[in-house]
Amino acid sequence: MKGILLAGGAGTRLHPATLAVSKQLMPVYDKPMVYYPLTVLMLAGIREILVISTPHDLPLFRRLLGDGSGWGLRITYAEQDRPRGIAHALVLAEEFLDGGPSALVLGDNLFHGAELEQRLAEGRAAAEGGNATVFAYRVSDPHRYGVVEFGADGRALSLEEKPSQPRSEWAVTGMYFYDGRAPRRAAALAPSPRGELEITDVNRGYLDEDALRVVRLGRGYAWLDTGTHDSLLEAGEFVRAIEKRTGEKIAAPEEVAFRKGLIDADQLRVLAKPLRNSGYGTYLEALIARLD
Ligand code: DAU
Repeated sequence: MKGILLAGGAGTRLHPATLAVSKQLMPVYDKPMVYYPLTVLMLAGIREILVISTPHDLPLFRRLLGDGSGWGLRITYAEQDRPRGIAHALVLAEEFLDGGPSALVLGDNLFHGAELEQRLAEGRAAAEGGNATVFAYRVSDPHRYGVVEFGADGRALSLEEKPSQPRSEWAVTGMYFYDGRAPRRAAALAPSPRGELEITDVNRGYLDEDALRVVRLGRGYAWLDTGTHDSLLEAGEFVRAIEKRTGEKIAAPEEVAFRKGLIDADQLRVLAKPLRNSGYGTYLEALIARLD
């Protein structure tokens, strides 16, 4: 399975902080925001990743992530000339996906939870078997998101994008698994009133065919928003609190690559060395020491 990381958009809700630098490159505590969704793809066992961003920001992503080989990945890039919608990412990725299944993640979404890896593995397996998967999370302001309504039997009944009167408190998060049909489905959509190809319309297509799994991320998971100055700061505070208390980092690509067996201890040592000054490198070196 291949992965798509969508990291474009105008970031206007975070202006002036994002006037010069892409939102997804802003730090969330100790690392760039894009590390969080990137490591989610890695936890799903994905090694080939297409990063999509604006013509202006793409060079910065290249500088940060390179070709991914240091982390055992193959990262390639595509430009989105303007924000044409999240589903447009699937259209841009059609050639890259070459008819295969995909995982699409938004560059500003943070997920955390002990069983996340397992949920991702299930989403991946379902996509490889012809079904799509989305994850739902209970929020206090569902009108800001895609919203899923559940029936009494727990099955998804409807999906709506930013409804003024939400039918539930369950927001659809920015992590999606699709089978090989997704790019064609996205390309066939008409733009919404806001002029975008809506991912909710892609998901509704799967729902209508009874080919959509909606997995609730309940107690034990955190899904963090970074859409406003407050929520960005709160996300940083959350990461800081967890990292301080547990002594483990959330979303360190070097560590995930090592744990997943994409790189060995010698390669991790090489990655750690130039990062020693910030303490991040010392953390990585301690991981190796624990093995010795
Ligand atoms: O975060 C989850 C929500 O993301 C879902 O619940 C919604 O169903 C989905 O539509 C989306 O809602 P947002 O209004 O929050 O999406 P936004 O326009 O902020 O875009 C999300 C990210 O994707 C953002 O970091 C910018 C990037 N993006 C967005 C669009 C529309 C692109 O790179 N290109 C685009 O064309």
